[in-house]
Amino acid sequence: MQENKPRVKIKVCAVGKKWPLAAGEQGLGENKSLAALEAVDLEIYEGEFLCLLGPSGCGKTTLLNILAGFERPSSGHVLIDGEAVQKPHPKRITIFQEYALLPWRSVLGNVEFGLEMARVPKKERQGKARELLELVELTGAEGMMPRELSGGMRQRVAVARSLAVDPDILFMDEPFGALDALTRIRMEEELVRIWLQKKKTIVFVTHDIDEAVYLADRIAVFSVLPGRIREIIPVAAGRPRDRTGYDFVRLREKVFASLSLGYKEPVEYYL
Ligand SMILES: Nc1ncnc2c1ncn2[C@@H]1O[C@H](COP(=O)(O)OP(=O)(O)OP(=O)(O)O)[C@@H](O)[C@H]1O
Ligand SMILES: [Mg+2]
Repeated sequence: MQENKPRVKIKVCAVGKKWPLAAGEQGLGENKSLAALEAVDLEIYEGEFLCLLGPSGCGKTTLLNILAGFERPSSGHVLIDGEAVQKPHPKRITIFQEYALLPWRSVLGNVEFGLEMARVPKKERQGKARELLELVELTGAEGMMPRELSGGMRQRVAVARSLAVDPDILFMDEPFGALDALTRIRMEEELVRIWLQKKKTIVFVTHDIDEAVYLADRIAVFSVLPGRIREIIPVAAGRPRDRTGYDFVRLREKVFASLSLGYKEPVEYYL
């Protein structure tokens, strides 16, 4: 029985984050702070695809940056593999919304970068990089420069680049937010295909309900400031998911209802 229990990879324990407000900001004077996160508890399992979903400004990026070790919590702590997160780790890769490619390097050069840092011999790293470019369907684009690529292609290079170092965890902060709707759907499909092959632990931030229902094993729904996890919604549907299917639509409704809880209609509405 014990063997079937998923292993906890990331444990978030009572994490709070206060951001200092500039003196006089919003008329609040000095020494005031904004509570971005409050008492966030969350367990993320090994190999799980977890989405953090919530409206703009609810603290998703703040939490992701704390998990990735870029920021420290004001209270509470985060454990990964049982150890407290103190700083970024080379096996835990973050993909940001802005395409984080090295503009002076070719597509192949970008994917090779992490392997070069790890002193992997040239032949081996080029072979690995080509393999990953094939995985993200960019064979043939090895010699192109980032400026010559479309947004979707750039994000696929970013995915290949992050997989090159064989990461333990991928932290993704609205990585497809800047893409047009069709490219975004295609990227989501590719990400699921890659995840099914590689089974990395993925923590994926989004404010898009459909994206979360399509991608996630579980969706952690945030409330607005201070950011708390309001509900965790498991998505039991298999993959790939049919976006038009009955189960999908029902789940969407459920997530929407969870997100809308606590929403206050403007007072004028009732007058
Ligand atoms: N470095 C910072 N200094 C001060 N305040 C910050 C800082 N980073 C974030 N905040 C504040 O913390 C709150 C949460 O921000 P965060 O970026 O985590 O939200 P988010 O959920 O990622 O929003 P979005 O969906 O728009 O990206 C916001 O009110 C924001 O203004
Ligand atoms: Mg954000």
